[in-house]
Amino acid sequence: MTMADTPVLKVEGLTRSFGGLVAVNGMDFTVHAGEIVGLLGPNGSGKTTAINLMSGVLRPDAGSIMLDGIDIAGWPTFRIARLGVARTFQLVRVLDGMTCGDNVRAGLAFNHRSHKEDGTSVEDLLARVGLPDCSMRPAADLTYIDRKRLELARALALRPRLLLLDEWLAGLNPSELLIGIALIRSLKEEGLSIMMVEHVMEAIRSLCSRCVVMSSGRRIADGATDAVLNDPAVIEAYLGAPEHA
Ligand SMILES: Nc1ncnc2c1ncn2[C@@H]1O[C@H](COP(=O)(O)OP(=O)(O)O)[C@@H](O)[C@H]1O
Ligand SMILES: [Mg+2]
Repeated sequence: MTMADTPVLKVEGLTRSFGGLVAVNGMDFTVHAGEIVGLLGPNGSGKTTAINLMSGVLRPDAGSIMLDGIDIAGWPTFRIARLGVARTFQLVRVLDGMTCGDNVRAGLAFNHRSHKEDGTSVEDLLARVGLPDCSMRPAADLTYIDRKRLELARALALRPRLLLLDEWLAGLNPSELLIGIALIRSLKEEGLSIMMVEHVMEAIRSLCSRCVVMSSGRRIADGATDAVLNDPAVIEAYLGAPEHA
């Protein structure tokens, strides 16, 4: 196998229970360099739990999470972040009592390189996500989409090699959605590898080359986006769910 074939992320047998509920049940999947992989599935299928396991918010009961060949399963969040995994949260998390600049600095504090060293300034990161000249603005003043942008800037401050997005595009209006899709695409074009939990079909179709689908903690499909979205087992999982997005 050449370096180019080695996935950035290779997850095998990932499992986590809460009491008697197996929220993530023997999941296997990979993300290759520069690829955007969709993580799909009805509500409650285990997508956020999988993201929490990969980012160290939760410890797996079993399984391996190989990041560039290093098994990070069970590592604390700060070590995983330093190694280059950044994430956003399903319910946007921004520190309201701080300025936008300080929110991004909170991300830089975890960076494995100092930001002086790699030349990335807070202003650059804010401009990168569409918040130019916002460094001194209180985060509490931001609109919903701008809060999402700020959370993304904080994630990018880690200079990640793998970005995990948990419904980052949810709740945007149609014109904001186009802006959000273009922003994510530009990150991929810069070489970032991305796994994104998403329900918005327009976004999945235009961004994800491949999708992994979960249902009740298990992987029920993995393949090219078009094939996966037309897979009867996937359609059945969505239609059979008590609530579906
Ligand atoms: N911290 C937790 N404690 C107990 N149960 C949880 C916890 N987190 C998630 N769950 C349960 O695990 C299942 C999967 O949840 P989640 O990963 O949030 O699904 P999704 O993101 O696909 O909607 C759900 O049944 C949920 O109620
Ligand atoms: Mg979720």
